[in-house]
Order: sequence, then C-alpha cells, then structure tokens
Amino acid sequence: MKLPKINILDEKNKILRTKSQDVTFPLMQEDKNLIKDIIDYLKMSQIKKYYEKYDLRPGMGLAFIQLGIPKNIFVIVEEVDEEVFETYVIINPKILSHSEELIYVGEGEGCLSVNREIDGIVPRFARMKVAYQDIEGNYQEIRVREDISVAFQHEMDHLNGILFVDKIDKNNPFKNKDKMREI
Ligand code: NI
Repeated sequence: MKLPKINILDEKNKILRTKSQDVTFPLMQEDKNLIKDIIDYLKMSQIKKYYEKYDLRPGMGLAFIQLGIPKNIFVIVEEVDEEVFETYVIINPKILSHSEELIYVGEGEGCLSVNREIDGIVPRFARMKVAYQDIEGNYQEIRVREDISVAFQHEMDHLNGILFVDKIDKNNPFKNKDKMREI
C-alpha cells in the first residue's frame, strides 16, 4: 500500500470553520479519487506496520473540509477485526432521528486535525438514524449506535465547521458526566 498524499488541516486553520455544502451527482472524478485516498490513509493509520513506518496518528474518520474542501462528504473506516475494516462513505448526511440517551467516549475523542491531548466530555446521541447519499448518489438510510454514532456526529460537526473541542466546557470539562453513559 502506498501512502496517499493528503494534507490534513490543523485546528488553527480557519478553513475548518467553513460550513460545507451539499454536493450534486455524479461526483467529480477528483472527489472519487480523494475518497479512495482517504479510505487508504485511514486504513494505513490503523495498521501498525504503516503507522510506524510513516509516523501516522491513528484515525477512523475524516471529513472533506479537513482537506480544505467544503463539501458534505466524510469517510469513516472502522477496524472490526485484525486488519479487517468496515468503511462508510457518507455524502450529504441528515439526521432523521436520534435517541434521548447521551453517551461520551471515556478516553476522550480524537481528531486528525487536533494534535494535542484534550480532557473532557463531548455529549453525543447513543443512537441515530441518518439519511445520506452513497458514492453513486443513491439515497440510503443507516442506523448507527455507540462508537459509530459518535464518529458520525463528530464528522457531521466538521461539516458544520465545528470541532469536538468546541463542545467541551472550558471551565467544567466533565460537566453533566452523571447524566450520560460512558463508552
Ligand atoms: Ni475530527
């Protein structure tokens, strides 16, 4: 596998604050290529021999805006077994419904655009139903839960110009901890 040449913007970059726009179909070849590059990059970032070789931070999600492109597209690559991955390519997502129940990631969320340790709670819906378009433009619906629900919300925030650090109360990073379930 060859490491794709992608340039991930850092949190200090104002472009990350852009609200992304819905895309039309068919997708430009350029966007299709970029989706493939992101999938490869995220996989390699989770495979030891590659993240050691290329000094990558492991990441399971990336939104187009993190590469400076304000389009409503994100990719999530989840390792479901040893070097076996489940890939989600989500275009023009909309939340149809969500649970009342909130969860948070106990060890904290991470982001390929945020290169520092952050303590605190990011409240997320435990479950959601999301409508989106796939890479061919077909309308799809998906139910997500637990860590994948968190990942979807994290990436959908990127599409709205929001970083997970924005959602942590600066004065009280563990505010309302008791009202949510840790995952
Ligand atoms: Ni992120």
